[in-house]
Amino acid sequence: MSFPLHRPRRLRRTEKLRNLVRERDINTAGFIYPMFVCPGAKVRHGVDSMPGVYQQSPDAIVEECREVESLGISGVILFGLPESKDPRGMSSLASDGVVQRAIEGIKKANLKLLVITDVCLCEYTDHGHCGLVKNNEILNDETLQILSEQALSHARAGADIVAPSDMMDGRIKAIRNKLDEHDFANTPIMAYSAKFCSAFYGPFREAADSAPKMGDRRSYQMDSANAREALREVQLDLEEGADVVMVKPALAYLDVIRLVRDHFDVPVAAYNVSGEYSMVKAAAQKGWVEEKRIVLEILLGIQRAGAEIILTYHAKDAVRWLKS
Ligand code: PBG
Repeated sequence: MSFPLHRPRRLRRTEKLRNLVRERDINTAGFIYPMFVCPGAKVRHGVDSMPGVYQQSPDAIVEECREVESLGISGVILFGLPESKDPRGMSSLASDGVVQRAIEGIKKANLKLLVITDVCLCEYTDHGHCGLVKNNEILNDETLQILSEQALSHARAGADIVAPSDMMDGRIKAIRNKLDEHDFANTPIMAYSAKFCSAFYGPFREAADSAPKMGDRRSYQMDSANAREALREVQLDLEEGADVVMVKPALAYLDVIRLVRDHFDVPVAAYNVSGEYSMVKAAAQKGWVEEKRIVLEILLGIQRAGAEIILTYHAKDAVRWLKS
């Protein structure tokens, strides 16, 4: 026989054989579900560009968290849409702010899921930038104080993990110091370390009402081309005390996830962002792709690239599909 000895198709012939040799399954323990908290009571307002995602008042957040927990999802990450905005984002510090009230509600309801908070100014500033602005420049060092106060305020309300997404230099150290000074040495920091300046955040800015009113985020978020620089950002965040590092977005940056996974021995998270979600939803609604298969393929791909933790708007659907 001249045919080569090897026939990889032998092990693909039946479902039993394929199951036997499958290299990995999707690990749902790493799923984090993002949620948007707005003022009021009994509010549940759909986000047009993100079907299935809502802006919700703290009481409604608690109700959805019950469902999230009962599905076995590990945690949620909360974003706030405050009552009022100003140039410094002061409403992010209020002990009765939207995020703080949502955390307290979740804890009072005795839910066990991890409550992670996004620490940033863009949802709270009237200009929509992630830091303070002076003469059209985004100030770095002046922003650190208010970011660390915000992280402390979240920790005081009961946050299990704080997740700074602002991309100011030195913010991990500033937040770590502030938390430690106030007896929150045990509150972990999940750093958005390699956060790229991306068009994939478009729908989120509608959901969180956080689009910059002037200019863009290129002076603080990373250039899409730079994978080596991502390693440097991760290294700096780890030196400053980050416990978990994140790559964001996920799909156009799978190589960066793999690089970070291979270079560092810490948990790696990836954010499967709003634009990635909306593209799938839109195509699925048109009947152009099979939603279930495409979502599970995407989540498997992100984990295969090396992320243990995935922040994803698909979390609830994915867990349901995997159970059934
Ligand atoms: C900023 C922040 C953003 C996202 C998470 N935190 C948006 C931005 O930088 O403009 C994006 C998340 C998503 O697109 O799903 N605080």
